[in-house]
Amino acid sequence: MDWGMKNRLSRIIRPETGRTVMLAVDHGYFLGPTSGLEDPAKTIEPLVKYADCLMLTRGVLRSSVDTSVDVPIMLRVSGGTSVLGNLADEGTTVSIRDAIRMNVSGVAMSIFVGSELERKSLLGLADLINEAQEYGIPVLAVTAVGKDMNRDARYLSLACRIAAELGAHVVKTYYCEDFEKVVKTCPVPVVIAGGKKIPEREAVELAYNAVSRGAAGVDMGRNIFQSEHPVAMIKTVREIVHKDLDPVKAWDLFNTLINEKATSAK
Ligand code: 5RP
Repeated sequence: MDWGMKNRLSRIIRPETGRTVMLAVDHGYFLGPTSGLEDPAKTIEPLVKYADCLMLTRGVLRSSVDTSVDVPIMLRVSGGTSVLGNLADEGTTVSIRDAIRMNVSGVAMSIFVGSELERKSLLGLADLINEAQEYGIPVLAVTAVGKDMNRDARYLSLACRIAAELGAHVVKTYYCEDFEKVVKTCPVPVVIAGGKKIPEREAVELAYNAVSRGAAGVDMGRNIFQSEHPVAMIKTVREIVHKDLDPVKAWDLFNTLINEKATSAK
């Protein structure tokens, strides 16, 4: 692996802990102005300083992130579908040259294993990896889970391993029962998406369970920016991911941060 690739990866997955807190705000590429992302700039600004990496689209990076931001960018380069259509029918939407022009540290693409378009998505990932390799840009493979797929260790292990076999440098998947099996059978770092918004206490436990069972961190979106207390949430997730703070202490921290904010607001 050349110096540039290693350097970009070490900006995303922190060498001090081998983990990462990626803030995912790329949802609009197929969901439009989803709750919490109506004004991406307003959502991102208070959170970005607590993120190790920001995952977003070209359009939001250009329009909604200050160029002075010193947080590595994971650029979503697949798309072409919407929540009204067939989500598996994605293609590549950003050229590697434009990704480089935007000074990103990595590029991300979804795969749809088990869908009728799995071949298209897997070959699309392979093409992206081939091109990105030329310029030392790491690739994050996002394992989307189709409606008729079980989000279980058997399926997620299959999807993650295929992505790794194709050459993805990091894989994003979901937490599941027997998650350690997913991690143990994937030869590259695995991070977890948070998935749909759940109560903050459950999201705290989710983050802890994932890293304590081998995840290299989180690429979390809705459970941070749809929380009533997004800053408290990302700060708490950071303590879990980078310091292994247990769920009880993490929940205490979350509530302390909320109370501090409430007190300072008076
Ligand atoms: C959306 C994505 C998101 O990056 C991923 O799902 C993480 O976000 P969340 O924690 O909200 O699930 O790939 O397609």
